[in-house]
Amino acid sequence: MPLRMRTPADYQEQYARSISDPEGFWSDMALHFFWRKPHHTTLEWNFEKPSIKWYQGAQLNISENCLDRHLKDKSDQTAILWVPNDPGEDSVSISYAELHQRVCTCASALIDLGIGKGDRVVLYMPMVPELAVAVLACARIGAIHSVVFAGFSAQALADRVDDAQASMIICSDYSRRGAKIIPIKAVVDDAMELSCDSVQHVIVHAHTGGDISWHDHDHRWSELMQRASRTCEATVMESEDPLFILYTSGSTGKPKGVVHSTAGYMVYAAYSFTNVFQYDPGDIYWCTADIGWITGHTYIIYGPLLAGATTMMYEGVPTYPDAGRFWQICEQHRVSQFYTAPTAIRALMVHGHHFPEQYDLSALKVIGTVGEPINEEAWHWYNQYIGRHRAPIVDTWWQTETGGIMITSLPGITDTKPTYAAYPLPGIRPVLVSPEGDLIEENEKEGLLCIDYPWPSMIRTTYGDHERCRQTYFSAFSGKYFTGDGARRDADGRIRVIGRVDDVINVSGHRLGTAEIENAINEQSSVIESAVVAYPHDIKGQGICAFVICDIDRPDLSSDVCLTVRKIIGPVATPDRIYIVSSLPKTRSGKIMRRILRKIACGESDGIGDTSTLLNPECVDLIIRQVEKEDMQ
Ligand code: PRX
Repeated sequence: MPLRMRTPADYQEQYARSISDPEGFWSDMALHFFWRKPHHTTLEWNFEKPSIKWYQGAQLNISENCLDRHLKDKSDQTAILWVPNDPGEDSVSISYAELHQRVCTCASALIDLGIGKGDRVVLYMPMVPELAVAVLACARIGAIHSVVFAGFSAQALADRVDDAQASMIICSDYSRRGAKIIPIKAVVDDAMELSCDSVQHVIVHAHTGGDISWHDHDHRWSELMQRASRTCEATVMESEDPLFILYTSGSTGKPKGVVHSTAGYMVYAAYSFTNVFQYDPGDIYWCTADIGWITGHTYIIYGPLLAGATTMMYEGVPTYPDAGRFWQICEQHRVSQFYTAPTAIRALMVHGHHFPEQYDLSALKVIGTVGEPINEEAWHWYNQYIGRHRAPIVDTWWQTETGGIMITSLPGITDTKPTYAAYPLPGIRPVLVSPEGDLIEENEKEGLLCIDYPWPSMIRTTYGDHERCRQTYFSAFSGKYFTGDGARRDADGRIRVIGRVDDVINVSGHRLGTAEIENAINEQSSVIESAVVAYPHDIKGQGICAFVICDIDRPDLSSDVCLTVRKIIGPVATPDRIYIVSSLPKTRSGKIMRRILRKIACGESDGIGDTSTLLNPECVDLIIRQVEKEDMQ
């Protein structure tokens, strides 16, 4: 069976086969890759434990599949097209042959520093080609990479390094974001001061060449690469060996390390990339995500390179030097597939359609969104001014835990409907259940979104805490993976993902736990207690609203709270609104009633309903009045 679907009939056929004979289907798909040894068992699974094993018996290395496999006929083709922050600077094309050599050299350098199979390496870098090189170098030697988004603070970085017990950090000196130069190495230095006792070596890539402080454990990227061997035999990996850890927020205060394994992730990354983006030879594919998130892992690095595509990496921001930058890049490089987040679309929309109208976007064949629900207005703007009613929109629903796109329409194959991610990819079995766990079979109903059969790129465990993985995803509904999302199915079976039903919020497509933000706020010395809720935000999708009780009254408390959050998590988690209050609504057992605060933050105080069961019902009116007063100011 071919990897790529091209027609509605192909989709029907592949979907039907993937349900009637999932093992046969995925076994066939594995034939499109290079294996050192083929698998003997396609799937063994048990959602109760959970234990999920794909392609047992197989041996492989994913970097060989991303690079070596293409050297015969694509060695001169551009693998990575790097577009720098500054529009005046030239872009850089890295061919498959060159990328292969750079990955092998970096892999040799890691080996020279004693890194081997199973060791954890944390990557804390901006969007530079060296980040992709480092990811693939880890994969080549079987080291488990854990990319930490370079906007996270020293404390957040240290927490992730400690949890993974990483023996190395690879970083850059600085990052460039629009007109700003942001220190990166200095954050690593601070993290190393805080803890990071497991780290023996820090490799520093000089991106801007700016001044940095230096320690005994630091090594210069350029010097290591000069000394290292240009060749590096790929380490043979078992199918279920972990490939990477990626930390993501959950409903508790501590981010969890989602672990993905090698063979299943590889097959699904390539399968979903090929089909969702309908990539053809010669196309220039661009995903604007950061490699610090799962989208960057699967759809900037692994998926495109596995498919032998040309993948673009952009260093900068959408609005520098102006709000036409994305479209100028699309025109200049004749981008064929463009994949971004609804928050970016909304942010650019407010600058007006005269920006995209200045550019020739005729090369675009597919435009995609990911990370959060897309509102109807943004969908139509994207369709009209970017896709120009010609390039179909794929609204792709998936998660860090799913490893790859799960629900989406397929361009030119299945239809597209505003705000609906639409149909499951072959092999994916979404179901809606009621809070009691009953299956909702009728259409035009809402429910909790679960997946009731394994797929190859699904989460295997949460690093160092398997029980947490079981409890979070597999215990709510027996025999099902619970996504944490609520969804609706329309009359024709299309799925629309409405949003999280747990204490996870989605700010500009970044996933944050309310408990995580509360913990950070509570670190501020004047804070006694806090409660964080989300409210609808025109650009970010959701904004962060914090209600905080303090032991003193000072005018600058709110800015201190913001500074503390930035220090402990990073700028992404900065509250948009802070209300210093004297008490928080609580149940008789002492639990904060966030439902009430959510209503207040959303301007729906009228719908709060009965508060008489609260321990302190009088505080509700006080908070409402205070919010109204402050919002008027
Ligand atoms: O709530 C869903 C939302 O983003 C969550 C996953 O976040 P994260 O693990 O950071 O991964 C984001 C990139 C894959 C989901 O639980 N989400 C993601 N895509 C969509 C979405 N909500 C609605 N529509 C989408 N297309």
